[in-house]
Amino acid sequence: MAIRAVLRMGDARLWAQAQPVETFDSPELHDLVADMEDTMRHLDGAGLAAPQIGVGRRVVIFGFEQNPRYPAAGSVPFTVLINPVLTPISDETEEGWEGCLSVPGLRGSVPRWRHLHYTGFDPFGRRFERTVDGFHARVVQHECDHLDGILYPMRIKDFTSFGFIDAFGPESTGLPTD
Ligand code: NI
Repeated sequence: MAIRAVLRMGDARLWAQAQPVETFDSPELHDLVADMEDTMRHLDGAGLAAPQIGVGRRVVIFGFEQNPRYPAAGSVPFTVLINPVLTPISDETEEGWEGCLSVPGLRGSVPRWRHLHYTGFDPFGRRFERTVDGFHARVVQHECDHLDGILYPMRIKDFTSFGFIDAFGPESTGLPTD
């Protein structure tokens, strides 16, 4: 398939509400997912949402292996999540560093639900659900925000924890979220 250009913050398509996928197991959907995976892996991202490559559909992908530089982040299984529904399962939130392929060169500390339940569909239309926490929960929230036109800087509360990666000290080099 193909590596696609990733839209950057400022492009109006990133602010749009994405539409649900209505037809599963179609060549178009499989091609979209393949392009997203090629693009994410090429850029060494942890996740990617369809609107980031200019496709206004409710499709996200994410996942990565254990990174020895960030042992606390653990691994997240590679997942294709379509028409997701997210439900926090406690009021608890936590701050954590995020980056975004649409906001290159920057990092910010973002509050997210710590414990999360999510459901959705795979490309074949099979429904699945998971209960997750920590970085897995963070990645899902970050990617699914893209489907509602939300980029992580819009979630930041403390702007002293938002800036250029190369201007921060080493403590802020957390795993990029996508
Ligand atoms: Ni992102």
